[in-house]
Amino acid sequence: MESTIPRHVGIIMDGNGRWAKKRIQPRAFGHRAGMNNMIALAEHAQKIGIEYLTVYALSTENLSRPKEELDGLFGLFRKYFTVNVKKLYVENARVRIIGDISALPEDVGKILKEGEDNSPPDAKFTLVFAINYGGRNEIVNAVNRAVERGEKVDKESFSRLLYTDGLPDPDLIIRTGGEIRLSNFLTFQSAYAELYFTDVLFPDFDKKEFDRAIENYSKRERRFGRI
Ligand code: IPE
Ligand code: IPE
Ligand code: MG
Repeated sequence: MESTIPRHVGIIMDGNGRWAKKRIQPRAFGHRAGMNNMIALAEHAQKIGIEYLTVYALSTENLSRPKEELDGLFGLFRKYFTVNVKKLYVENARVRIIGDISALPEDVGKILKEGEDNSPPDAKFTLVFAINYGGRNEIVNAVNRAVERGEKVDKESFSRLLYTDGLPDPDLIIRTGGEIRLSNFLTFQSAYAELYFTDVLFPDFDKKEFDRAIENYSKRERRFGRI
């Protein structure tokens, strides 16, 4: 019997803007609430025995949002990575970054990299932060790397060329905020993930809602093509 707690959960943290709008607040207000919620969920996931939590914080497509919103988001990443996320890894969580950080403001990239480098590599829990991440770019980059090496790939060796090298595939992908799509998240890795969609906006997606998603997952039968 497979354990019913998923080993790796991905979250598409959507709905921050609408959450703020409902409160007649700027979008940045929603992003701040979303980051606070993300930290709380990471602590909770660690507590209930999830080994990997991948949070989709910024897609490659999101980089085309207005500068004002992006600057606000970068400010949040700076702040949270030097305080709250740091607290997570000081308390024994590993941090991994997936995405193209070279296109971000230099100091933000540096702060994220430091989070990755300073966190304990052998921790039992890993927070994977997807930032300027796009599944299609990830695949195309991997193909180019294989071509440059002049090597044919198989599923395993190809996986090692992705940002997620060394991480297991996600068992469960949750999307908050009501949209029923993956928006370029873990395109290769999600092939056999269970999907869970909820209308709850991300800042409202609390531990109770998270547990509800895990319970829903635990009742599913994963067949992987078998009968
Ligand atoms: C998700 O929330 C967070 C990011 C994409 C950075 P949105 O900002 O997309 O919120 P909505 O979808 O507009 O409510
Ligand atoms: C997906 O949300 C990306 C993140 C949550 C980081 P979006 O709000 O950008 O997705 P679309 O544009 O509705 O597909
Ligand atoms: Mg959105």
